[in-house]
Formats: sequence, C-alpha cells, structure tokens
Amino acid sequence: MALHFADVAMDILDPPAMPSSIDKRRKKQRPPAWDWRVWLLHPGRRWGKGYTAARWIRDRVHLAKARSIALVGSTNTAVRQLMIEHPESGLLAVDPSARYYSAKGEVHWPNGAVAYVMSTEHPDRPPLRGGGFDTGWADEADSWGDETTSKKAKKAWENLSLSMSAGDSKLVVTSTPKAGRIVSELLERAKEDKDVAVTTGSTYENAANLSPQYVSTIERRFKGTTLEQREIHGQVPEAVTGALWTPDSFRYRKAKAGQLERVIVGVDPSGGGDEIGIVAAGQLKAERWIVLDDWTTVGSPAKWARKVKELHDKWKGDAVVAERNFGGDMVLSTLKNAAADLPVRMVTASRGKHIRAEPVSLLYESKQVQHRRGGDAELDLLEEELRHMTTTGFEGEGSPNRADAAVWALTELSKPRKTWGVA
Ligand SMILES: Nc1ncnc2c1ncn2[C@@H]1O[C@H](COP(=O)(O)OP(=O)(O)OP(=O)(O)O)[C@@H](O)[C@H]1O
Ligand SMILES: [Mg+2]
Repeated sequence: MALHFADVAMDILDPPAMPSSIDKRRKKQRPPAWDWRVWLLHPGRRWGKGYTAARWIRDRVHLAKARSIALVGSTNTAVRQLMIEHPESGLLAVDPSARYYSAKGEVHWPNGAVAYVMSTEHPDRPPLRGGGFDTGWADEADSWGDETTSKKAKKAWENLSLSMSAGDSKLVVTSTPKAGRIVSELLERAKEDKDVAVTTGSTYENAANLSPQYVSTIERRFKGTTLEQREIHGQVPEAVTGALWTPDSFRYRKAKAGQLERVIVGVDPSGGGDEIGIVAAGQLKAERWIVLDDWTTVGSPAKWARKVKELHDKWKGDAVVAERNFGGDMVLSTLKNAAADLPVRMVTASRGKHIRAEPVSLLYESKQVQHRRGGDAELDLLEEELRHMTTTGFEGEGSPNRADAAVWALTELSKPRKTWGVA
C-alpha cells in the first residue's frame, strides 16, 4: 500500500529508530520451529503473550515475510489499546520503526509492510472480508463472542480464516485459557491436524518482568480458588461432568442502577472463617434478570454486614435475602446492627445447594439471566463456582458461597409476583 505524502514527510522529519537487536524472549516465547499455520497461546495472566505476538510480527516484518497483516480483536479500541499502543507489549513498544495512522486504522513499516486494524464489530467490512493476509494476530479470542456479538464473532473468525488461506500465511491467536468457542476449536484441531501449535505456561515464568506486588496480588486473589489453574497456570478448564452451568451459559451486558425494576442482595452466611457469599442481582424487565456484583468476603460479622449494606445502597436495592443458618437469628441481628433500616428477608434452606441451584440454572439456559459486563472481576470467581455445581453436588474446592448467594437473589427475583386481588 502506497504511503501518503504527509506520512512520508513525517518519516523524513522523524526517522524511525532501528529495531533493537537484543532478543530477550524466553524459549517458549519464540515461534515453534516447525511449519504450523496457527499458533495458539493461552498462558496464565501476564505471561507475556501480547509481547510474544508483537515480537513475532516484528520479526516477520523485518524478514519480509509479513507484508499484509491482520490485527483482529473484539473491538477496534481493544486492537488499538492492547495490540498497538500497549506501552509495554504493543507493536509500537516492541518495534520503534512501526508507525500507527489512527485515521486509517493502519500500522506502517518503512519496508512497506502494513497491518490493518479489524474487529468483530464489523466482520464483513474490508479488508477483513476478502483481504489476503500473510500474517495475522487475533487477540483475546476467548472474549469475542457474547450475546450481541457472537454471530459477528463467528463471521469475523470465518472471514479471517478465509483471508489467511495463502500457502505460507501464519496466524497467532492469543487468549486467556478460557474454553471459548475459538480456543476449543483450535485445541481440537491441535489434536487432529499438524497445523496448530499450542503454548501455555504460568505467570511465574514471567516473574522476572513483573513487579513482586503484582505477583503477590494475583496469588492473594486466585491461590486456593477454583481459578488458580486457569489464571496462574494457564490451564484451560476441563468440562465438569453433570454441570448445571457450562462456559456457554454466561452472557453479558452493561447495566445501570436506574434501569433496574428490582434489586435483591443475596447473602449466604457460612460458619467459621469461611467466605460469606454476597451477590447483587436485578430485574431488567419481565422475565429478564442480571447478576450485578459479587462482593463475597471473609471477615468479622460487622465487616460483612457493612458490605451487604454498601452493595444494597450501590444498586438502590429493594431487599436483602439471607439464609438463616445454624446461628438462628444471629444473621438477622448482625445485618440490623449494621443498618437498622435494611429490609431483610430471612429464608431457610430446606434442600441442598445444588437442588436449589437447578431451577436458576434453567433460567440461564433459556437466556433469561445475564452477567454485568465491566463489573468487577469477582464475577469470574462466581462463574467458576457455578460451573462446578452439578446435578449431584458441588465439585469445586471449598464451599460454593458465591453461587449460593446468587441463587438466593435470583430465586427471590424470579418468584411469581403477588398482585392486588390475587392471594
Ligand atoms: N521476554 C521478556 N522480556 C522482557 N519483558 C517481557 C518479556 N515477556 C514479557 N515481558 C513483559 O512482561 C509484561 C507482561 O507482558 P504482556 O503484556 O505481553 O503479558 P500478557 O500475557 O499479554 O498479559 P495480560 O494477561 O495482561 O494480557 C510486559 O511488561 C512485557 O513487556
Ligand atoms: Mg495482553
């Protein structure tokens, strides 16, 4: 693609620096030394997958193997922020000779190679449709599909695959180790064909390039939870036999307090030093619900009761539904001590958690429940607990307090409402 005059002038005034020749990549960050077509990277958090993909593109450009490059993400903004302008691992950071032209959505190199910004937002727009790419990078492929974009995501993936059909074209796919559709498809292909390479690894492998604070923060969050294998060790979760929820059960949307017809905070107070499940859910309209926040916590009764109150206030809640446990009225008095005016409904668990969970899982199956997009990352932990609820019990570690709190809130919200004149 020809450079415009203004672009050329800019390059003369500000000549691009020579690419650094120091290669600090670990062995697993270098492309596998055989003739693969797709390289799937799904390591733990902050392993350096973005860095690896950007460095690979840089090498391919300088070896003149990459002339026409597809950069595909879930949104154009994500492509720009994560793949191009990420200050540590974006294309511009690893290759000072690359120039980004935001108006065109293109990255240019002095040797004429061009990378095109594309996303699942517009899967049929050229060049994604019909472009002949020799090189591609698909980022965060696990999060391409959700309730509004899954058809588009599918189309984007198909069009990308079609436009990378030249004999020696190569595509890198980076993703967290979630078993989304694209990741699952590639893992299957890796078993059958000889054209998909797979690399995973743990966050610790990149510890030398991460701050000790970061490492201890993720350890605090994930160690000992059902998410440790996935988030730190980069292992794609196996399907749970008899699970009431699967990775496909979850759909996402945004939500604001003003949109909600009713909000309930569910509380599962557990005995001992265990976590107290605290989850807010709301009603969007008739027969449609949304899980808003998971503020599950450990700590003193005063601490968890305060959190319940804060979460209730945050969403302008209508009521708190709390399970009466061995402590009898202890839970009610703890909540009333935190806020005397908090409307609390006490419920008694007469059946097992997984039996209570089943009708709620059916609401997910019929696409009547979504989770809040952009909510805090604790909803990930809730999803993971739900995925381990099976028809015969909980198959995860510890006790499913988050799941139970969500089940209480959604059960209450989805109960048939009493109306005037009806008993
Ligand atoms: N081999 C390496 N040498 C030096 N720095 C590295 C190396 N690999 C990764 N890094 C650095 O480690 C940090 C994390 O890398 P990167 O952003 O690519 O991780 P990631 O796996 O994409 O993270 P996330 O899970 O947040 O998407 C960045 O600062 C990156 O520059
Ligand atoms: Mg990244």
